[in-house]
Amino acid sequence: MNSADFTKWFEIWTSEIQTHKIYLSDLDNAIGDGDHGFNMAKGVEAYQKTHLNKQGLSIGDECKLIGMSMLGKVGGASGPLYGSAFLAMANSLGDVKEITLDQLVSALIAGVDSIMYRGKAARFEKTMIDVWLPVINCLKQNNLTEEMIDGFVNDTSPLKATKGRAAYLGDRSIGHIDPGSFSSGLLFKALVKLI
Ligand SMILES: Nc1ncnc2c1ncn2[C@@H]1O[C@H](COP(=O)(O)OP(=O)(O)OP(=O)(O)O)[C@@H](O)[C@H]1O
Ligand SMILES: [Mg+2]
Repeated sequence: MNSADFTKWFEIWTSEIQTHKIYLSDLDNAIGDGDHGFNMAKGVEAYQKTHLNKQGLSIGDECKLIGMSMLGKVGGASGPLYGSAFLAMANSLGDVKEITLDQLVSALIAGVDSIMYRGKAARFEKTMIDVWLPVINCLKQNNLTEEMIDGFVNDTSPLKATKGRAAYLGDRSIGHIDPGSFSSGLLFKALVKLI
């Protein structure tokens, strides 16, 4: 992947977030406070605006730009989590214009490690981690499809939330897709189109 692919990746993701803004908030209404789509939309708008004035960015800078937009504009739990993940990816990838699949995998591992560290969460707690981890496992084997990603997102439905706002619901969180997992699914479905 080169830096133009990263621009395309984040362009597709941010426009998919806008397309699914209401749906993301509806998912969050069921098990949270109904703000996930609106939170994310603010961050992606900020990214799209700042990106307009930037050209020829390195891959690390692309990740930094989206990370700073998420950190600065997305309220709630998801902003700092996505923000820290993208900044960890920026650190991992550095000032380069082209990377291998192995480098992408290492960067995503740094990203999910940062989410897990900040969120103090592990797999099967019904958070975005339940999409990031299996996606990374498939990418390691160069075997990731959009259908698989949809599967990982849907697999969050039967889980009981033990982290984040949804954890207050206990058993009543069962049977609903986790909103952060859905937005992460959109991130990785955008990526699949480019690798
Ligand atoms: N501790 C955590 N670790 C990892 N992911 C988390 C954690 N807490 C929440 N999430 C993810 O964030 C998503 C919710 O994001 P959202 O933007 O709605 O923030 P929020 O929970 O409403 O935050 P706040 O309660 O501060 O407003 C969840 O669906 C989940 O995927
Ligand atoms: Mg919320």
